[in-house]
Amino acid sequence: MDYRLYMPEDFGALYAIEELCFQTPLRFSRGYMRELTHQSNAATWVAEKGTRMCGFAIVEWTREETGQVAYIQTLEVLPEDRGQGVGGELMRRMEGLARAAGAEAIWLHVDAENAAAIHVYERHGYQLRGQRPGYYGRGTAALIYEKALSKGISEIDAAG
Ligand SMILES: CC(C)(COP(=O)(O)OP(=O)(O)OC[C@H]1O[C@@H](n2cnc3c(N)ncnc32)[C@H](O)[C@@H]1OP(=O)(O)O)[C@@H](O)C(=O)NCCC(=O)NCCS
Repeated sequence: MDYRLYMPEDFGALYAIEELCFQTPLRFSRGYMRELTHQSNAATWVAEKGTRMCGFAIVEWTREETGQVAYIQTLEVLPEDRGQGVGGELMRRMEGLARAAGAEAIWLHVDAENAAAIHVYERHGYQLRGQRPGYYGRGTAALIYEKALSKGISEIDAAG
C-alpha cells in the first residue's frame, strides 16, 4: 500500500469511496467534500495500491482559545481493503500533519454504533470525552473522542 497527499484529479475516486462507505445522512455532499479537499487548513491523505485508491482521510486544524486543535473530518477504507492496517496508517499520518501544524490535540465525532471505527480510535489512544445525541439525525448519537498530541523530538529540542 502506498500513501500520499491528495491531488485535485483524485476527486472522482475519493467521492466513489464516500458513496460506498456512507449513506445519507452520514454521507458528505459532493460540494462539502470538494470544499474540504481544497481547504488550506486541512490535508487529505490517500492510500492506494497501484492506481486504485483504497482509502483516504481528511484532517483539519484551527486555532482555538486553548491553542491549535486538529479535527478528523473523515477516515474511509474500501470494504475489501479493511482489516490490514490501512485505517491505522491513515490515522498515524493525519496525526503527523496535525502535529506539524502545531496542534496539541486531535478530536473527532463517530457514530455511536460504528464499532469498527471506535475500535480503531481507541486502539490508537483516543479517549471518549462525551456524546452528542442526534448529531447524525434523529436517534443517531455521535461520540466525541480526543487524543493529546505529544511534541516530536525536534520540537522539544527547538523549545530548549
Ligand atoms: C473505520 C475504518 C476506516 C477502519 O479501516 P481499516 O483499514 O479496517 O482499519 P485497520 O485495519 O487499521 O484496523 C481495523 C481494526 O478494527 C477491528 N474491527 C473490524 N471490524 C470491527 C467491528 N465490527 N467491531 C470491532 N472491531 C472491528 C479489526 O479487527 C482491527 O482491529 P486490530 O487493529 O486490533 O486488529 C473502516 O472500517 C471504514 O472505512 N469504515 C467505513 C467508514 C467509517 O465508518 N469511517 C469512520 C468515520 S468516523
